[in-house]
Amino acid sequence: MTVAVIGAGTMGNGIAHCFAQYGFPVILIDNQAIALEKAISTIEKNLQRQAAKNIISESDIQLILSRIQTQTTIDSALKNCQLVIEAVSEKLHIKQEIIQQINSVVSTNCIIASNTSSISITLLAQQCSQPQNFIGMHFMNPVPVMELVEVIKGHHTSEFCTTTILETCTKLQKKPVVVNDYPGFIANRILMPMINEAIYAVYEGVAEVEAIDQIMKLGMAHPMGPLQLADFIGLDVCLSILKVLHDGFGNPKYAPCPLLINLVHAGCLGKKTGKGFYNY
Ligand code: CAA
Repeated sequence: MTVAVIGAGTMGNGIAHCFAQYGFPVILIDNQAIALEKAISTIEKNLQRQAAKNIISESDIQLILSRIQTQTTIDSALKNCQLVIEAVSEKLHIKQEIIQQINSVVSTNCIIASNTSSISITLLAQQCSQPQNFIGMHFMNPVPVMELVEVIKGHHTSEFCTTTILETCTKLQKKPVVVNDYPGFIANRILMPMINEAIYAVYEGVAEVEAIDQIMKLGMAHPMGPLQLADFIGLDVCLSILKVLHDGFGNPKYAPCPLLINLVHAGCLGKKTGKGFYNY
């Protein structure tokens, strides 16, 4: 099965890495050649990390890399792909445009999956002529390490499409979990209110940032505290997911904390900008 991954950012390079690691030929596409170069060097670095931990052998690195081919356009090369995964930025109009482009070049039985963390799969499927072949494959960051793939069935997603994706996840040594298409699916419907509540606790002066994270790490055995995790995810991404929950359910319990909104307006987006709840 040849797989194409659209978008060579953090999620896209992690997804391409996993498919190549488990033997799939991968076409990695990004309209920025520089993003592709960066993605390949990140994948190489992460493969070396896996070799150091004896997850793969040193001699596998070049073989895995050789399975990844890169290109800057969505074109007829995708005709022979059985699966195309969209992992472009989390903006509805960008995803819609890319899915339309994918739809115009793939064969009719190709499965198109979106790695969206919160946008409705049923809404994105409107861009496809075969919405029964459209599904959500929500990988977690860092993709080569995290076991979960949240598999989201849209209104039209067929059983055949779902089964194929579950089998594919298993071939990647991931644990897929199926959910239905409602705002935030499950992962972010539960994670984001927790992060938002932690931000409210800072906003209301209940405790310092470090104290809140320590409590969740030491008391709840979370690998990292909610505020550090928010910085890693990106505060802009957290805000946009909370907006999807708030708009989708119309319930004030999902309203993003004003401190989160201020930080995003100030350009403090977390690890990627060097400043969020912590400095990097
Ligand atoms: N995103 C990106 N990178 C992460 C990360 C995350 N969430 N968590 C850890 N990392 C990176 C660390 O920065 C570190 O990188 P460097 O070595 O380059 O500094 C590397 O992974 C190893 O981290 P640790 O030192 O913590 O090593 P570890 O082996 O003890 O643990 C881990 C690794 C299992 C990933 C652990 O850090 C962990 O569980 N992190 C939390 C992961 C998590 O919650 N992911 C889900 C995020 S939510 C999401 O992805 C979906 C969404 O829609 C928002």
